[in-house]
Amino acid sequence: MLVTGASSGIGRALCLRLAAERGDHLVLLARAPGPLDEVADRCRAAGAASAEVCPADVLDQAALERAVGATVARLGGIDAVVHSAGVVAYGRFDQVPAEVWNRVLETNVLGAANLARAVLPEMRARDSGTLVLLGSVIGQIAVPNMSAYMVSKWALHALGRELQLDNRDRSGVRVSMVALGSVDTPIYAQAANYLGRQGRPPPPVYSADRVARRLVGVLDHPSKRVNIGVANRAMRLGFSLTPGLFDALVGPLFGTVASGRATAPETTGNVLQPQPELEDVAGGHGYGVRAIATDLATGALSGVQRVLGRG
Ligand SMILES: NC(=O)c1ccc[n+]([C@@H]2O[C@H](COP(=O)([O-])OP(=O)(O)OC[C@H]3O[C@@H](n4cnc5c(N)ncnc54)[C@H](OP(=O)(O)O)[C@@H]3O)[C@@H](O)[C@H]2O)c1
Repeated sequence: MLVTGASSGIGRALCLRLAAERGDHLVLLARAPGPLDEVADRCRAAGAASAEVCPADVLDQAALERAVGATVARLGGIDAVVHSAGVVAYGRFDQVPAEVWNRVLETNVLGAANLARAVLPEMRARDSGTLVLLGSVIGQIAVPNMSAYMVSKWALHALGRELQLDNRDRSGVRVSMVALGSVDTPIYAQAANYLGRQGRPPPPVYSADRVARRLVGVLDHPSKRVNIGVANRAMRLGFSLTPGLFDALVGPLFGTVASGRATAPETTGNVLQPQPELEDVAGGHGYGVRAIATDLATGALSGVQRVLGRG
């Protein structure tokens, strides 16, 4: 089992669950070696048959091919690959520097293509293997101030659909495209930010481990399209059936629920370089409701104070 983005969030939770539940052989891939080593140690302690680390950028095609080659030589093949590596940038399109915007797209789309290029020949040769791509409901709708991420997830969904068509001649090769709603991981704090306010997951928010549990089910019974998020369907319906209303509401709604009131400094986040000190399973957002309630209460209070002050 090869997992990209294994050092943080969903990838990390999935490795720990695969180790504990199934005792799998695991290959853990991400850029920063420190958190990968830590997760590998935990996986071994939890019951993994083996846990190899592969510190690599998904944009490094040769490194991905070396990782796949070494795994096949050691274990005889790769049963499944879960692509969880991904990065985010917040900010209006014209505010996000081109280097950051482009790298989000490259990491999320070309990284997935590189990985597919590295693993599919071996899976096709054995007519066996599952590739799971982690997309987002944002790859099926439109939201403001996340243009690079949104375009990347639309493209990832297109890539996943194309890989499904291209591999119809190998019934043992499965490509599963997963659309996730909000998940409590460090990705929001890790994001590049040109918005002035920190991003956060809008409710309903799932834990990374809850998503990992669903992903184990996807690995056992791969299906082409998987949705994990109770509000995904409603958002997709609103986007496609009532586009005018959707456009009018999504800005104010997203502004309230998907970003905090507190100011946030400009940062390239983990887009250009990893920030290993922020990597963990959870992002500390819980169900995502408390922060919104606090912001609304603070807003109401300062409104009352303004009115009283004027009086
Ligand atoms: N959290 C959510 O609400 C949510 C919602 C929808 C979809 N998703 C998707 O789910 C996936 C996992 O997200 P997450 O929330 O678990 O994020 P996360 O906690 O920030 O983890 C991202 C992982 O990707 C790795 N990574 C980033 N850039 C990389 C690169 N160039 N090469 C190799 N590894 C790289 C990171 O490690 P290094 O930085 O050390 O490389 C880290 O291990 C992403 O594709 C994300 O878009 C998440």
